[in-house]
Amino acid sequence: MKVITVSNIKGGSAKSTTAIHLAEALSRRGKTLVIDMDMQADLTDFFLPNESLDQLEIHNIMTLLLGRSKIEEVIIRKTPIDIIPATLSLSKLVRITQDPLFLSESLKRGLDSVKNQYAYVVIDTPGSAKFELTSALYSANLVLIPVTPSKWAIRAVNLLLDEITETETLFTARKQTSFLPCLFGASKKHREILEKLKAIEEIPTLNEIPKSESIKTKTEKNEFLKKGTNTWHAFDQLADEVIRLVDPENRFPFL
Ligand SMILES: Nc1ncnc2c1ncn2[C@@H]1O[C@H](COP(=O)(O)OP(=O)(O)O)[C@@H](O)[C@H]1O
Ligand SMILES: [Mg+2]
Repeated sequence: MKVITVSNIKGGSAKSTTAIHLAEALSRRGKTLVIDMDMQADLTDFFLPNESLDQLEIHNIMTLLLGRSKIEEVIIRKTPIDIIPATLSLSKLVRITQDPLFLSESLKRGLDSVKNQYAYVVIDTPGSAKFELTSALYSANLVLIPVTPSKWAIRAVNLLLDEITETETLFTARKQTSFLPCLFGASKKHREILEKLKAIEEIPTLNEIPKSESIKTKTEKNEFLKKGTNTWHAFDQLADEVIRLVDPENRFPFL
């Protein structure tokens, strides 16, 4: 099982969109679990549009992190992708505990116990540095950082890299990272930001996900991309690149 954490502390940087369509592409290669760790619950809305809020409040990522539910209780089994949902209550997490190590260990332990059930886990994270982010980074084999062409792009990336370094020292584990340019156009300004990104040492920049109305509208309608379209191919290729990073010998095309 390989865990891919999609993260950028800047909101609106295509994290949830990337997590959804990457997970779909990975699920064609091996059994995939997605985990929503953002209280905005965009992944939960996408994968579980009809689930009642009362039902979601009983077992969700927060009850797992706090050790109040077992992982088997929080996983909602759906074809083709299973999901651990989030709800707005996740906003209370920092008031309930100030112990990121405890939360991170809960998630890690849970994932370890289902490691024979999944080839891939994709985690969506909030647009800020909270304990959820620390926990998601702790369990990650790969931190995938979608970057959009804003003036904050490089600053946000550097802050996240600091956060990752801190998590590494906190837990003495090295993390693999890579950048995923999303929504870049051909303008000089955009290309300059992309060049700066590529100049950051030791972190590979993957092929771009193009700006596309169909990605936006399909995602808003809770639909996957149409097989064979350019956008479908972009995420299909991303899945291959991600697998090459986390599992170079490709030992996990099963389950
Ligand atoms: N490749 C893309 N082409 C067009 N729109 C996109 C693309 N990726 C993301 N978006 C749009 O950008 C906005 C922010 O994306 P989202 O995934 O919600 O970001 P985050 O999860 O980082 O806050 C959404 O409206 C989404 O539909
Ligand atoms: Mg999001």
